[in-house]
Amino acid sequence: MLGKRSSAAPAKTDGPEDIQGPQHVAIIMDGNGRWAQKKGKIRTFGHKAGVESVRAVVRFARKNSIKSLTLFAFSSENWKRPEEEVSVLMELFNLVLNNEAKRLHKNGVRLKVIGDVSAFDDKLKQKIRKAEVMTAENSDLVLNIAANYGGRWDIVNAAQQLMQDVTAGKLGVDEINEATFDERISTAGLPELDLLIRTGGEHRISNFLLWQSAYAELYFTDVLWPDFSESVFQDAVDDFKQRQRRFGLTGEQVSV
Ligand code: IPE
Ligand code: IPE
Ligand code: MG
Repeated sequence: MLGKRSSAAPAKTDGPEDIQGPQHVAIIMDGNGRWAQKKGKIRTFGHKAGVESVRAVVRFARKNSIKSLTLFAFSSENWKRPEEEVSVLMELFNLVLNNEAKRLHKNGVRLKVIGDVSAFDDKLKQKIRKAEVMTAENSDLVLNIAANYGGRWDIVNAAQQLMQDVTAGKLGVDEINEATFDERISTAGLPELDLLIRTGGEHRISNFLLWQSAYAELYFTDVLWPDFSESVFQDAVDDFKQRQRRFGLTGEQVSV
């Protein structure tokens, strides 16, 4: 089982080789459309090319003992894109589940889809459930695919669950706190989010992991998602290792 780390300052390290890498990384995989357009192709060509980068980051995460990887694949706002683009994205999601689920399972990856899956068609919902059940016991890496995901939705969803438990008499109002809230957030039970990467050059969160990114280190790169590679991921991790995470303390307090 994955332990939950406290948000207190990390343990003191003695040398660069001891500096802890991130346990939980999230990525806003942005820039597919622009990548394709630069090549004179239609936007969906970029989405298809982006699948290879997903494979690369999963590989990197496994090699580097990252415990959880959360990828933003489709936001709750992306439904507003042209119908043709949305339908290609849904087809692609179906295809990737068909082609990759078994391989992920073989590699010890637990796959979870976070977001409001109720909006997907029955066939896709079934495939998601099947892949989640098949990989449920794996623990090398938890791969969260955020689909029809919104950070505000995640918070509202947790609030609704809390309210239901209060109404059912399972929880007192005075027991609503950060810990009980966190237990109902989509990433419950996983390590705290350490590093949030966004590709594609924009410096915004776009309604991704709002609750979880409270103390995440942010890393922005101009690299467009289909060009993302293990070496760019390594750059982000190296940058992360250089940061002093203070969690509200002074620099002196965390370096003694
Ligand atoms: C990210 O790439 C993928 C999704 C949002 C599904 P975009 O499609 O947003 O690509 P750009 O930002 O328009 O280049
Ligand atoms: C964020 O990218 C969503 C995903 C990567 C899935 P967007 O392209 O939708 O974000 P905005 O619209 O530029 O903020
Ligand atoms: Mg975009």
